[in-house]
Amino acid sequence: MTTFPIDADRLRAEAVAILRENDLGGYTIPTRGLYPFQWNWDSCLVALGLAHVDEDRALGEIETLVAHQWPDGMIPHIVFHADHETYFPGPDVWGTARATPTSGITQPPVLGYALRRLLDTARDRTMVAPRVAALLPKVAAWHRWFATARDPHRTGLVAILHPWESGRDNAIDWDEALARVPTEGVGSYVRRDTTHVDAAQRPTKAEYDRYLWLVQRFRSLAWDQATLHDASPFRVVDPGFNAILIRSAEDLAALAQALDAPELAAEAQAQAARGRTALEGLWHDGLGQYAAFDRAAGTLVESASIGGLLPLLALEPGHPRAQALVARLAALRGAVRHPVPSHDPADPRFDRLRYWRGPLWLIANRLVADGLARHGRADAAGEIARDGLALVAKSGFGEYFDPLDGRALGGKRFSWTAAMVLEFLETNRA
Ligand code: GLC
Repeated sequence: MTTFPIDADRLRAEAVAILRENDLGGYTIPTRGLYPFQWNWDSCLVALGLAHVDEDRALGEIETLVAHQWPDGMIPHIVFHADHETYFPGPDVWGTARATPTSGITQPPVLGYALRRLLDTARDRTMVAPRVAALLPKVAAWHRWFATARDPHRTGLVAILHPWESGRDNAIDWDEALARVPTEGVGSYVRRDTTHVDAAQRPTKAEYDRYLWLVQRFRSLAWDQATLHDASPFRVVDPGFNAILIRSAEDLAALAQALDAPELAAEAQAQAARGRTALEGLWHDGLGQYAAFDRAAGTLVESASIGGLLPLLALEPGHPRAQALVARLAALRGAVRHPVPSHDPADPRFDRLRYWRGPLWLIANRLVADGLARHGRADAAGEIARDGLALVAKSGFGEYFDPLDGRALGGKRFSWTAAMVLEFLETNRA
């Protein structure tokens, strides 16, 4: 466990300064240079931090994102509000033909979850409630899109069709499925990420080739979301992603109930219930946690990542699997100096530096802490919050961190890290 004096005022001031710096007017970029556009789940999580400072701006962040929802209901993973040479693949590679260019894939649907937190903690409920109410039909449309486009055979669980959709881009969970993606015809390209960040902390070229092949394949299908699922060689059911969707459906139901939209509430409740039942199919006895399911191969993936712990967010309180996940987390916390690693360090594939193959991410910690609190472990949740604050006080607002020595990795002055610091300062005080 970390011990380091925490100067809360200094941390708060620095977090607020970073969010201001990365505010390009109505939307917040993750960080300058490396990620110069609006990212979907970054913005929703950033809104949680902004809410402690400026509730109007927090809602604006989400409204700007949702304004770029596709007619079919999908909310894209990137909105390219302005041109930037510092990022690849840019709008031309995606070729989605949207008025304001966007990518053609999505990201973990934390939107419903974020909106509920914004309303539950609102200081100015008169301002916040109607704006949240206006967003609910759009959240519902996105969730409906998931239930059809990403679960066309009605299993109760949705697949991601690209590793970038998971938000955990190069997780070990995707290795086998990604290895089956061809690379013919990808052509040559120049990556920009490795000009901003040490290549040892980023995905490999072999991974990038396949990321691009998938984008090109989907573009050749004119981004017709109804056809992509069955046409993609990469179809993986991520327990973390599904847990987030189930939780957002539960939160949407609660919001709809509170804001006088009973039909939406019933629909969202039913979607959450279907998801919860189906989630059980992702339990992996050998790993003692949930695991991804490779839908194209029909097998559970042998990979103990943080994705398999996120169902804590969605399981009903008292669910028998929750205790097992709490125990897994306790073991992981004992295995590294700075929890929670994004992958089990006992696995030989663990890599302390490389992105989602080992490093700890404050947003994942925030979600895990929420899950622990949901299952009666406010003590463990509080420790995660305090560890995170001490880590940032020592190492700065990095994109992610080495779980063994705590050094900051990836992009610097990172928005969602700043937002999670504001969240942790608040939950810690509460
Ligand atoms: C990386 C992360 C993803 C995040 C994005 C912007 O792609 O893996 O989760 O949304 O960067 O911060």
